[in-house]
Amino acid sequence: MNQSLKVQRSFSKSSGQYDEYSQLHRSIANELFLYIPKKLNPLKVLDIGCGTGYLTGQLKTRWPRARIVGLDFSPGMIEKAQSTYQGIDWILADNASLPFVDHQFDVVVSNLSYQWVEDLVKAFAEVRRVLAPGAVFAATIFGQHTCSELLDLLQEVVGIKTKKLPSQAAIQEAIDHNGFKNVGIHTAKNKIEFDNLYALLAWLKNIGANALPYEGFLGKDALAKTAVKYQEEFPLGNGIAATFEVISVYAQK
Ligand SMILES: C[S@@+](CC[C@H](N)C(=O)[O-])C[C@H]1O[C@@H](n2cnc3c(N)ncnc32)[C@H](O)[C@@H]1O
Repeated sequence: MNQSLKVQRSFSKSSGQYDEYSQLHRSIANELFLYIPKKLNPLKVLDIGCGTGYLTGQLKTRWPRARIVGLDFSPGMIEKAQSTYQGIDWILADNASLPFVDHQFDVVVSNLSYQWVEDLVKAFAEVRRVLAPGAVFAATIFGQHTCSELLDLLQEVVGIKTKKLPSQAAIQEAIDHNGFKNVGIHTAKNKIEFDNLYALLAWLKNIGANALPYEGFLGKDALAKTAVKYQEEFPLGNGIAATFEVISVYAQK
């Protein structure tokens, strides 16, 4: 199975319980929402990688007369969004090839979706293509330090190598390469407490974020060893710490 299909399937599978476990994503969506200038009065707005539609729904509330479009490549996510929010156009499509003519959106947003993309330069070229001149792109992306405790320990303790999420420099390069203007990119790191490694892994599965490519085999004993080391090296409160690096992007065409 190719990587993109794996990501699509794990998000589809998680769609039933995603809302119950995605408080972190909601709070980041709320911050992203504040980032979008209030004075805008768009006719067409696109939310890429909309998931179950929380941010898309907020956009509809802010701009009830605009055409609001939510796009995602996981059928389960789109079905869930469709059954929750009214008055929004839901589109099942891959962000690598947006099914829209050029220059038609006044605002494009995306919350925590582009970390799954293989080729950011191409993906952002698609965003730019569908934006009207001067229109706004605002996105958040999980960066390379996300879950660094877990990924570093897996490599150190059991030799498992995991593909890294994008760095701020890679995102900046992909934005610059596409000739966006008035660019602002910044990073924030949040530490979240989980009971233990097993709770962290269960949460990642519940939100569909368990399809990161890796090389190696993670058996029961290796996992137990990693759990002990994790608790020793990264304690927080009564449990363990997991870092989430959020890279925020604001740009105009
Ligand atoms: C972590 S969820 C975020 C969902 C939502 N934006 C939120 O804030 O809760 C990432 C979403 O991106 C979607 N996604 C990942 N890669 C995609 C791609 N290439 N094209 C379209 N959607 C994609 C997944 O299906 C998933 O719904």
